[in-house]
Amino acid sequence: MSRTIHLSPPDVGPLEESYVVAALRSGWVAPVGPDLDAFECEVAARVGTRGAVAVSSGTAALHLALLGVGVGPGDAVIVPTLTFVATANAVRYTGARPVFVDCDPHTGNVDVALVAELIRNLTFRGQRVGAVVPVDLFGSCVDYTALLPACEAAGVPIVEDAAEALGATHRGRPAGSFGQAGILSFNGNKIMTTSGGGMLVSDDTALLARARHLATQAREPTPHYEHRETGYNYRLSNLLAALGRAQLVRLDGMIARRRQLRDRYAKLFAPVPGVRLLGMEDAGSNCWLTTIVVDPERSGWRAADLAAHLALRDVETRPVWKPMHLQPAYAAAERLVTGAAERLFADGLALPSGSVLDEAQIGHVLAAVDEFLTVRAGASTA
Ligand SMILES: Cc1ncc(COP(=O)(O)O)c(C=O)c1O
Repeated sequence: MSRTIHLSPPDVGPLEESYVVAALRSGWVAPVGPDLDAFECEVAARVGTRGAVAVSSGTAALHLALLGVGVGPGDAVIVPTLTFVATANAVRYTGARPVFVDCDPHTGNVDVALVAELIRNLTFRGQRVGAVVPVDLFGSCVDYTALLPACEAAGVPIVEDAAEALGATHRGRPAGSFGQAGILSFNGNKIMTTSGGGMLVSDDTALLARARHLATQAREPTPHYEHRETGYNYRLSNLLAALGRAQLVRLDGMIARRRQLRDRYAKLFAPVPGVRLLGMEDAGSNCWLTTIVVDPERSGWRAADLAAHLALRDVETRPVWKPMHLQPAYAAAERLVTGAAERLFADGLALPSGSVLDEAQIGHVLAAVDEFLTVRAGASTA
């Protein structure tokens, strides 16, 4: 085992073991089974949607969600530039093209005024906007109070990328429930995991039924194998769903642990000039990744300096997502950017945030940060 303290390792234990062993012994070692059905119902209940389809990844869920709202070749799809690449890739899978939009510099979430402006610009130029895909960054919901009416007025559907945000809320309403469809990820680094997996959630039962069909190779209900269109092999296995069910039981406890850790970071950084915690004001955050933003002019040091110091002490950190419009794979993509995401990429740093970190590991991380801050404070007063 490596000594490195990772950003967000899986948090699994005896409960997960008992659920997976029970599923194994039940004989449902397949992409169908009672745990899969129950997992879909339980996640839908948690998110507050009429239904859900469990799939092999959040990326697969995004692909199906985009197809479900009618996105297709030639469409423009508005995607925040500050996101993980899967959000943009899924748009390309459909034959549509992502158009990137910048974020609110304070929250890192999509700038709603810019989204509205982009919809107007694209529509004016005669381009069909197939969807807007807001991303609930690091577990904090987008300002849906503003985004929903803006998209509704323009008649553009929302596919909510809540991959990082299961358990988060905006004004009491759960992440994942805001669009025509929403998606979750159960990748190994997420707030809860099935080792790999995802979920499409929606109130639209026809959309869900179609997604389920496409996710199972578009197989027709005949005794032989009959296929009228190209489908995908996207279903989650019953065994992994069992793991997910155990994780869901523990979700609130895991969120609480992440919140406690975030509060300890907040206390440590509170007296430090030029450092703030991204999304700290958001009481509805699930606290997936605690991320600091450093203003080097005021702090006298850069986020990268702290990252280098922590790496020497076996503590993993990660810069905020590199904006999509700076990625070679999307160099030619259209964008409406202000520089906000680029600044967060330069100045942001995600810190170890996992619910599985024990007191010794947390103590080690906090002491290593404290050591860095003390040296820097000494250097600035010397
Ligand atoms: C914002 C965002 N969207 C989509 C995904 C894709 O999820 P997955 O890795 O389960 O395919 C992730 C995470 O991996 C993500 O962070």
